[in-house]
Amino acid sequence: MASGSLRVGIVGVGNCASAFVQGLARYRESTAPEPGLPHPDLGGYRVADIVPSAAFDVAEGKVGADLAAAILAPPNNTAIFAEVPACGVPVRRGPTLDGLGRYLTGTVTESDAAVVDVADALRGTRTEVLVSWLPVGSEAATAFYAEAALAAGCAFVNCIPSFIASDPAWASRFAARGLPLIGDDIKSQVGATILHRTLVDLFRDRGVRLDRTYQLNFGGNTDFLNMLERDRLASKKLSKTRAVTSRMASAPRDADVHVGPSDFVPWLDDRKWAHIRLEGTAFGDQQLNIEVKLEVWDSPNSAGIVMDAVRCARIALDRGIGGPLEAPSAWFMKSPPRQMDDHGAREATLRFVAGR
Ligand SMILES: NC(=O)c1ccc[n+]([C@@H]2O[C@H](COP(=O)([O-])OP(=O)(O)OC[C@H]3O[C@@H](n4cnc5c(N)ncnc54)[C@H](O)[C@@H]3O)[C@@H](O)[C@H]2O)c1
Repeated sequence: MASGSLRVGIVGVGNCASAFVQGLARYRESTAPEPGLPHPDLGGYRVADIVPSAAFDVAEGKVGADLAAAILAPPNNTAIFAEVPACGVPVRRGPTLDGLGRYLTGTVTESDAAVVDVADALRGTRTEVLVSWLPVGSEAATAFYAEAALAAGCAFVNCIPSFIASDPAWASRFAARGLPLIGDDIKSQVGATILHRTLVDLFRDRGVRLDRTYQLNFGGNTDFLNMLERDRLASKKLSKTRAVTSRMASAPRDADVHVGPSDFVPWLDDRKWAHIRLEGTAFGDQQLNIEVKLEVWDSPNSAGIVMDAVRCARIALDRGIGGPLEAPSAWFMKSPPRQMDDHGAREATLRFVAGR
């Protein structure tokens, strides 16, 4: 049974956090499905029950500000679609560790505020679910916040491609503490990953041999700027590639699959464009090719999915279920502990929510 509000801590007050917090205001009164919000109520939790309780960042202009103001601070550049009243949640200074790579260091000025005790802040704010939206490549920072969640007794939703839920060592530590874990690397509502997976499924189910494929992504937000640093990109490329190759009938040659972030185009702001091409062989040895282009605002595209993920984490907390949540991770994330087909993952997630 759902009980009261759901207190969410936010790590990284960037574009994704902005879309999420705006979404809480935009869909607060929703009682029926709306575009992008399939579940106004999930397991007894409405959008209005989701309450930001704590927020952490490192950037000057964000640290010290109310969360409602910080989500609008540059270099955030996502769409503004809701007015967010001050929420009384100050953005606290987290440790930077490896959060800012080569390109973000030139864009973000680090706050000179003192670093807080994150686990203590989570306890003090009675945070129940901690969501990580750190920049790609933040391996040490991800480990730090996962430790803080364990220490403070929070469920952890890992939206970035650093492997926590899909790492058996982290998974067993969360299981031992009875704390739910959903990860890794959020899969957008209709993003390049789920679109590409659907086309691969179509080829396989209709008996077309997939010979080679690519997915080229570019955008104008700090996520794409950061990913110009190839060394930080490895986990993202692996996560996105596996999400696609896991749907193929047989393991492809590396040279036949190219999936990943490709470039930074400043004037796109938080829009992301993805070009997907599949080349296959159909009946009579004839070539069959598909090429699609997706244009979407990147951060709003995943914020509704995170609303569902935090509610699943809270449902698991209510039921005393710890460790990685397999079905929600497979439905919401690109790199879950166990890959499932998207339809099966959705059905299994709804069964989990219903308590079956
Ligand atoms: N659709 C999507 O937008 C989508 C999909 C999948 C995954 N993701 C991932 O989500 C993450 C966040 O994306 P975004 O667009 O919000 O990025 P962003 O660059 O807008 O925000 C990242 C924020 O993290 C802050 N930060 C850096 N180091 C920190 C630290 N040590 N502690 C606390 N905060 C720190 C930055 O100052 C910034 O505010 C990225 O890793 C991205 O790849 C996004």
